Amino acid sequence: MNTRIFHLDEIDQAAKEIQAGHLVAFPTETVYGLGADATNEAAVKNVYLAKGRPSDNPLIVHVASVEMVEKYAANIPDNARKLMKKFWPGSLTIILPIKRHVLSKTVTGGLSTVAFRFPDCQPTLDLIKKAGVPIVGPSANTSGKPSPTTAQHVYHDLHGKIAGIIDNGPTRVGVESTVLDMSTDQPVILRPGAVTKAQIEDVIGSIDLNHHHVGKNEIPKAPGMKYKHYAPNAQVYIVDQDTDWQRVVDWISKQPFDVGMMAEERILQHASLPMNAIQFSLGKNVQDASARLFDGLRQFDDQPNVKAIVAQAFPAKDLGRAYMNRLNKSAGGVHFGAQNK
Ligand code: TXA
Ligand code: MG
Repeated sequence: MNTRIFHLDEIDQAAKEIQAGHLVAFPTETVYGLGADATNEAAVKNVYLAKGRPSDNPLIVHVASVEMVEKYAANIPDNARKLMKKFWPGSLTIILPIKRHVLSKTVTGGLSTVAFRFPDCQPTLDLIKKAGVPIVGPSANTSGKPSPTTAQHVYHDLHGKIAGIIDNGPTRVGVESTVLDMSTDQPVILRPGAVTKAQIEDVIGSIDLNHHHVGKNEIPKAPGMKYKHYAPNAQVYIVDQDTDWQRVVDWISKQPFDVGMMAEERILQHASLPMNAIQFSLGKNVQDASARLFDGLRQFDDQPNVKAIVAQAFPAKDLGRAYMNRLNKSAGGVHFGAQNK
């Protein structure tokens, strides 16, 4: 199959592909998604096949109006409506119970709930409206790899397997949406994202945060064993804020291979770096770092001499919580520390 690049004036053609049951990757403000008609069982099955995704991991349904949600959700609680009003379009995905038999088991993974998302990206809202159906969209990467933040990342993982990719340049946010489960009495954040716990609590009051955090001193028996997410080929080491970068640089200089160094500009500029340190700038702040993280991890995957990556930690609050969640998974919870001599 020839994977076509659709430009922004070709959304009509991309919508026709969706209507025909084909797969088209689409941009959002967070990461690129792998789109298919959410009401077409065969098309949705192909999404799992193309990604190599386990079939019990349910998909997000992307909508372009609250009416589209009403068609499928059993009911929309008042608090969910308030959040939609405040954050849609935007990076908040809301899980709601759905009516029976309105969406296939393939979409729901057999659950009685569905995750709805209204992305803040006009070309994709146009795509959904023109296709006339909600569009499922997991991140458009091979399962286990960092999510794609450019059309080129999608092409790298999925060319030959999908009909096309809508190219809207690099995504703005760079980490996936906040996933909030509102199908139970007490709302829970299942995945942190750009819409923060505090912002949600401002609208609906206290909510829970459900995350398994690998402790700072907890070294997994086999790196990466705990997580199969966002995993580049090289081992990633998280460089905590209280770690002296000079120690990191000294360690890099003693390695017999290249080491990817992901840090803010101010750190890269100040350090005098050994030849085998391959720099990747995370920019000037946690917003930049979140937008660039997956691109950096992917770039080092294409450099076989890079056998380790050191990456800067940020305070795990607000957007930093989402950044650290993804970095932790890519590192399998491993921090630069005593073992790095
Ligand atoms: O920013 C995003 O959310 C991107 C863009 C493309 O919209 N999409 C995305 O999709 O990250 P995906 O499939 O890679 O991640 C969706 C997450 C998965 O962890 C999935 O397990 C969870 O949401 N999820 C989806 N439906 C669920 C449900 N009904 N109950 C619990 N978790 C659910
Ligand atoms: Mg994903």
